Amino acid sequence: MRLIFLGPPGAGKGTQARILEQHFGAHQVSTGDILRENRAHGTQLGKQAEGFMQRGELVPDELIISMIETELEKYPDGFVMDGFPRTVAQAEAFDALCSRKGWNLDGVVLFDADSATLLARLSSRWTNPRNGRTYNTLTNPPRVAGVDDEDGGPLVQREDDKSETVGKRLEVYEAQTKPLIEYYSKSGKLVEVDGLAPVDHVSHMLLHALHVEHGH
Ligand code: AP5
Repeated sequence: MRLIFLGPPGAGKGTQARILEQHFGAHQVSTGDILRENRAHGTQLGKQAEGFMQRGELVPDELIISMIETELEKYPDGFVMDGFPRTVAQAEAFDALCSRKGWNLDGVVLFDADSATLLARLSSRWTNPRNGRTYNTLTNPPRVAGVDDEDGGPLVQREDDKSETVGKRLEVYEAQTKPLIEYYSKSGKLVEVDGLAPVDHVSHMLLHALHVEHGH
């Protein structure tokens, strides 16, 4: 299975990608997580990406494209891309990669949600930096505040989840990523799910949409 998850920050892409990974073994490839890991390890890519991420801007296409090509090579049998592509140039580079590798894209899932919900969700998100698992103090709190249910380690809030930065990320989504909706509509592979529904309903809609559209 090769899927793209598309949608604004906080729409639930990461949450659903992790669920698909747990249930179907479809590898989640999150460009945001890979970049944060590079920053944590102080790599050259991490240093180059840092300022863009802190400002809520996109990291330049050439850095992202070479990073993702290396990453996807690890999963020849399939992946769920969470946060890539985010520009038309990235989508074109991915198409070229698919032709070179003979890969078929099974679907593009668009998660839809309004800005007020996204702001509320991101300001109440807590993340386990060791495995990317997220909680939400409003809708899905950990058993003990600030502590991961599974590994017992500390949860953190992402620096780009401050409301000013979230505002910028939403603007960037509108200007640079939304054009991909038209790009993928033309290919007939786009399915849309309501990101406002509870997590398990979204998963259900997602599986249903993929089944209906692609017969999996
Ligand atoms: P990235 O890490 O990709 O962030 P994002 O796309 O902004 O997405 P988020 O992780 O914020 O949201 P999500 O949709 O995964 O929501 P989640 O499931 O966590 O990117 C960060 C930065 O990296 C970018 O700004 C950019 O600088 C750079 N970058 C990354 N990729 C790039 C690229 N391709 N090109 C250039 N730059 C790139 O859910 C959010 C919260 O809501 C959680 O608390 C969750 O528990 C809760 N929640 C989820 N679903 C539901 C639900 N159905 N009901 C109630 N609560 C829910």
